[in-house]
Amino acid sequence: MAEQLAALRRPQLEPAALLIKELMLTADSLELFPLSARVTYLNHGGFGVTPRTVLDEKKRILDRIEENPAGFLSRRIKLHWQQVADMVAQRFAVNPGSLALVENATDGVEAVIRALPLAKGDEILVTSMCYGAVAMAARHIASSRGAKVITAELPFPPRDVQQYVMTVAEAITPHTKLAILDHITSATALLMPVEEMIAVCRERGVSVLIDGAHAPGQTALNIAALNADWYVGNLHKWYFVPRGCGFLWAAPGKEVGLMPNVISWEINRPFPSNFAWTGTRDPANWLAVPAAFAFMDRFGENTVRKHNHQLILDAVAMLANMWGFRPTIPAAMTAAMSLVPAPEALPYPPTDEGRARLEVDLEDKYSVIVNASYVSGGRIWLRIAAQIYNRIEDYQRLGECVLALCQAQARR
Ligand SMILES: Cc1ncc(COP(=O)(O)O)c(C=O)c1O
Repeated sequence: MAEQLAALRRPQLEPAALLIKELMLTADSLELFPLSARVTYLNHGGFGVTPRTVLDEKKRILDRIEENPAGFLSRRIKLHWQQVADMVAQRFAVNPGSLALVENATDGVEAVIRALPLAKGDEILVTSMCYGAVAMAARHIASSRGAKVITAELPFPPRDVQQYVMTVAEAITPHTKLAILDHITSATALLMPVEEMIAVCRERGVSVLIDGAHAPGQTALNIAALNADWYVGNLHKWYFVPRGCGFLWAAPGKEVGLMPNVISWEINRPFPSNFAWTGTRDPANWLAVPAAFAFMDRFGENTVRKHNHQLILDAVAMLANMWGFRPTIPAAMTAAMSLVPAPEALPYPPTDEGRARLEVDLEDKYSVIVNASYVSGGRIWLRIAAQIYNRIEDYQRLGECVLALCQAQARR
């Protein structure tokens, strides 16, 4: 068994990939990813982008499975699953056996909410920046038990982290059973002061689930140090694992009652083994985790994070200059994504429909891929992301294409 996992882990380095070891984070990094040369890709946060070597490893794993599917899936997969789960646990500073691999953050978050012994009148606290699908799931599960979801309204842009901590603290009531807090918000791309937020929740006896869909790889993550009750993360966004790989961690004692969303043969096993088999599925993404970790480690996670953080700050400053706005988001609340306000002269209303049309026009007319993620203060805000394949010229191109859309409108 150990040999088989070692074989799965062994990076398949082709001659070109061997050279990559020597590369620093330069323009060459773009070649490590299968992105089309036609697109300017500024939406790493959307679904991640998988490096070529990791995709190659996934293909190799699939080939190995097909050599003997029954042998692999009925005898070997659960051990491999556990070994990869423990590897993820070790990377993010928690104990082996305290973390389950799941399909994605949605999967992990819902498993936690379903496990809560919610009763009539109980409350789940979320913020107004909670990921939409998570808030919907929380409302659905809460209402089926006579409980409800309370939303703490976070102002945007933030003044400072303390303002957000206070807003969460003030929304807690004697009925609050759980707070679901994003580590990095989706539409507003804010690195949240989760440690302080967790502390105020704990002082009031409220359990905390951190939704870290965007956090691993984007910010330094030591899960144990946060002192939350549950932590859910994605590895397919910022940790280079192929799409369909997340994890769910439970603090000691908080694993009791946790069940996968799809219950299967392992129902009577303790956490996390009860998550290891939820019916037949393709485990290749999970098993590609060692290759993704190896990819990250060629550069070093620290180096990647620092590169991306600096690039996003530079990009915001450059666009502020080009479009004429004052950056308002504190650097302390910025990881590798940020929001920039689109110029008012753009011919799109500051509505959900307007931001969808802006996104489509940027893609269809200029092949610029960016998330027009937010509307606030009568403006559409664009969420830009930085990854090692990006260069400042990418944001320059975004800036010029947006100005071209403004000029096209002015000529009408
Ligand atoms: C904060 C947050 N939670 C949950 C999700 C859902 O992630 P997934 O689709 O991988 O389940 C996202 C996706 O962007 C997110 O940003």
